[in-house]
Amino acid sequence: MTDRLAPRMARFSASPTVAATARANAARAAGRPVISLTTGEPDFDTPEPIVEAAIQAMRDGQTRYTAVDGTPRLKQAVIDKFARENGLSYGMDQVMVSTGAKQVIFNAILALIGAGDEVICPTPCWVSYPDMVKLAGGTPVEITCGPETGFKPTAQALAAALTPKTRAIMLNSPSNPTGAVLSADELRALGGVLKDRPDVIVICDDIYEHLTYPGTAFATLAAVCPELKDQVLTVNGVSKAYAMTGWRIGYGGGPAWLIRAMRVLQSQSTTNACSVAQAAAVAALDGGLGTVHARRDAFLARRDRLVACLAAMPGLQVRAPEGAFYLWVGIGDRIGTRLPDGTRIADEAAFVDALLDRHDLAVVGGAGFGASPYMRMTFAASDAELDAAMDRLSDFLASLTR
Ligand SMILES: Cc1ncc(COP(=O)(O)O)c(C=O)c1O
Repeated sequence: MTDRLAPRMARFSASPTVAATARANAARAAGRPVISLTTGEPDFDTPEPIVEAAIQAMRDGQTRYTAVDGTPRLKQAVIDKFARENGLSYGMDQVMVSTGAKQVIFNAILALIGAGDEVICPTPCWVSYPDMVKLAGGTPVEITCGPETGFKPTAQALAAALTPKTRAIMLNSPSNPTGAVLSADELRALGGVLKDRPDVIVICDDIYEHLTYPGTAFATLAAVCPELKDQVLTVNGVSKAYAMTGWRIGYGGGPAWLIRAMRVLQSQSTTNACSVAQAAAVAALDGGLGTVHARRDAFLARRDRLVACLAAMPGLQVRAPEGAFYLWVGIGDRIGTRLPDGTRIADEAAFVDALLDRHDLAVVGGAGFGASPYMRMTFAASDAELDAAMDRLSDFLASLTR
């Protein structure tokens, strides 16, 4: 009875990555030996000291409501993290904790965007940005970022996309899905375009900060362009760095007026993030980066192994991502080919579907990220799974004819 739903439900759709994972799970439940490279989460476990901190918090009775914007202890850990790792100085009224970085971004968009407002989304981009903007009544404005700029937005493209209606810009580095990382110089160039637009807020999604690979230095806009700090919301969280996707803790730092509004919104929706998970996040942020770096090195080895494999497969376009744990693979040369039964691979969706249906390998099509024909494959999976996945992909490609 969709006619009983509010009109806003027609403006956005279920996350394509969640949908791709659900399809893979359904095939698995039907008994098929599916390998899924769809999800955006580390395959590692949450480090033991973090788990212990959560158990201790439960024993200590930290099981009640906390302040809406986070426990003072976690907010202090967030402030210390921003100072230590990013050179950013925030006060207690300039940070807040939410149920995942996703809720931080959702709060910010809902607080900032209304009917007719435009939000610039360099594309390909994380599947949720455009839909959150639409939910708020705004219009996502794409800047198409192709291989010629390493899938990154340029200052010229940003300047061309700005209009009097622009209220916000989404920046995500390292990027999901492309793995592109914006250098300090590239951020400075983008920041230069904004110097006359104090009315535009930049939401910097730094969730993959600690997953940058050798030769690439992570940088964040508020630190690189201190003059813009009052118009930047810096978003981060523990999900990806500390293998804590299920704990649901994200945080943001930005101007007090925006944080206040986000806090009000959260107070009328979910209240505080889980108290036990907040205690675990303190242990994560205060616990040093030793495990994080060891795991990043494991991701790096997997990245290199997969890039070498894919580069040897004819008809795929692949580049080594500078960060995050995704491969963004161009499949344009394979569109128009035929399966062994003569069926034509008419488009990206047909390619992705056939890979799952015939070779039990699940990936996400590029369309959900705003760019086709591509596929996104995560390399946050075991070496054995990745090797088997490469064999299946290779068999699939070999079966296609012109
Ligand atoms: C670019 C990006 N931002 C934010 C998130 C959400 O992270 P969290 O688990 O903290 O909500 C994700 C998760 O996939 C992501 O890829």
